[in-house]
Amino acid sequence: RQIDLISPSILSADFARLGEEVDNVLRSGADIVHFDVMDNHYVPNLTIGPLVCEALRKHGVTADIDVHLMVKPVDRIIPDFANAGASYITFHPESSEHVDRTLQLIKSHGCKAGLVFNPATSLDVLDYVMDKVDMILLMSVNPGFGGQSFIPGTLDKLRQARKRIDDSGLDIRLEIDGGVKIDNIAEIKAAGADTFVAGSAIFGAADKTDPNHYDTVCRQL
Ligand code: DX5
Ligand code: ZN
Repeated sequence: RQIDLISPSILSADFARLGEEVDNVLRSGADIVHFDVMDNHYVPNLTIGPLVCEALRKHGVTADIDVHLMVKPVDRIIPDFANAGASYITFHPESSEHVDRTLQLIKSHGCKAGLVFNPATSLDVLDYVMDKVDMILLMSVNPGFGGQSFIPGTLDKLRQARKRIDDSGLDIRLEIDGGVKIDNIAEIKAAGADTFVAGSAIFGAADKTDPNHYDTVCRQL
């Protein structure tokens, strides 16, 4: 089992001061950066693309950038994200006509590849591509927005995914995304997650102007 990582979702950061926000959260103990890409087609929201990823690299961010693609079609944006400095690229099986090919495309560009499962999506596709994934990301909310509540049934799905990973003997991260908070992260970890996305829990709190705020939250997560 891999060591635990905190992956703050910059979806809830102040985009007008993004470089500073990312610096602060990484200085406060976060491990990697979760980068939510939405296209107003696959999901009903529109966010950021490769230009912003590249800007973070130019700003000096050296931590892994965990790019979560919620776009359809997905393949043509993958080389752009690889060139922009993405470390992990994850996508939803529903957004690709050829899941196996998309996984290979990501890896051929030197990035780690992952599959994202919506709350109502079965894990069965893993039966056929387990050896090609570096990360399994379970959505614990429906994708599109920050600040939603954790769907409790995801805990059982996490246990199933953990068992698949352990049985495979492969080195695969198990990431959870949506509604992760200080008061539920312990049970999420107990269910088998090792990588924790948190957006509103980190960036959205009321005392954001407190310079120690990110430090306080990251320490409790
Ligand atoms: C939702 C995104 C999440 C989102 C999580 O589609 O994938 O990464 O930012 O936000 P919180 O932690 O606020 O639920
Ligand atoms: Zn995400």
